[in-house]
Amino acid sequence: MTRLICVSSGKGGVGKTTVTSNLGSALTEFGMDTLVMDTNLTNPNLGFHLGIPLYPNTLHDVLRDEAHITEATYIHNSGLRVVPAGLSVDDLKDTNPEELGDVLLDAVGEPEFVILDSAAGLGQESVNSIEASDELIVVTNPNLPAVTDALKTAKIAEDAGTHVLGVVLNRMKGHDSELSVGEVEDMTGYPVVAEVPEHDVVDEAIAKKSPVVHHAPDHHVSERFRKLAADLAGIDYVPERRREGIFDRIRSFFG
Ligand SMILES: Nc1ncnc2c1ncn2[C@@H]1O[C@H](COP(=O)(O)OP(=O)(O)OP(=O)(O)O)[C@@H](O)[C@H]1O
Ligand SMILES: [Mg+2]
Repeated sequence: MTRLICVSSGKGGVGKTTVTSNLGSALTEFGMDTLVMDTNLTNPNLGFHLGIPLYPNTLHDVLRDEAHITEATYIHNSGLRVVPAGLSVDDLKDTNPEELGDVLLDAVGEPEFVILDSAAGLGQESVNSIEASDELIVVTNPNLPAVTDALKTAKIAEDAGTHVLGVVLNRMKGHDSELSVGEVEDMTGYPVVAEVPEHDVVDEAIAKKSPVVHHAPDHHVSERFRKLAADLAGIDYVPERRREGIFDRIRSFFG
């Protein structure tokens, strides 16, 4: 059965698209048939993260009944299947965002996972994505405003009957001023299912139009995403590739 998982947040820019592309890529790596979809219809950027620049058909065309979802599905060179959204302002015309649920019915069946990259905020656009999904991952950063907004997103999911899997705590810098995992769990009432550190490799990977998991497979950031994917898929995963060896440590010590 297809699992429909929405990746959302209250606050913008916390890392939803990064989590979507990396989770999708890691699941694909584990052999799971996975489709990621950009349901951020006003400010889509999943296509940028995955280097799918010019696409004849997008989710907007599907929502306008001008294309079938299979005609708007592209394959990243990591093997991940992607449904991008249209980039132009004109794409918003005559689009029926409320048809997302019906469109998803056409997507379910074959893939094991469909992951939706949602818009930020608590507006109708993100609510559509959350309501159309069975499960929700809330992405946040370790600060009070982001966590407060994450909580509102989780509340919307609960009201919609969408199961909240937990919180991805992204961009952790290890500063004393940050909220700890325990504090975030206490505040939200949900488990932190992944802790992802702040690292330049994320921007490097976006510049290379690839998920970090694909761009830098041995990196510890990739391992965090892989572990999240394994936990979701019920796979036992012990990070093998990178046991930080003495040479790595010496190299990072000297910068
Ligand atoms: N762990 C990280 N370390 C460093 N930079 C990160 C990390 N996660 C995300 N970023 C950076 O933060 C920016 C925003 O990330 P992303 O686009 O994934 O957020 P978003 O929540 O999807 O944003 P929006 O609300 O605009 O859709 C990007 O430039 C990305 O490279
Ligand atoms: Mg985004």
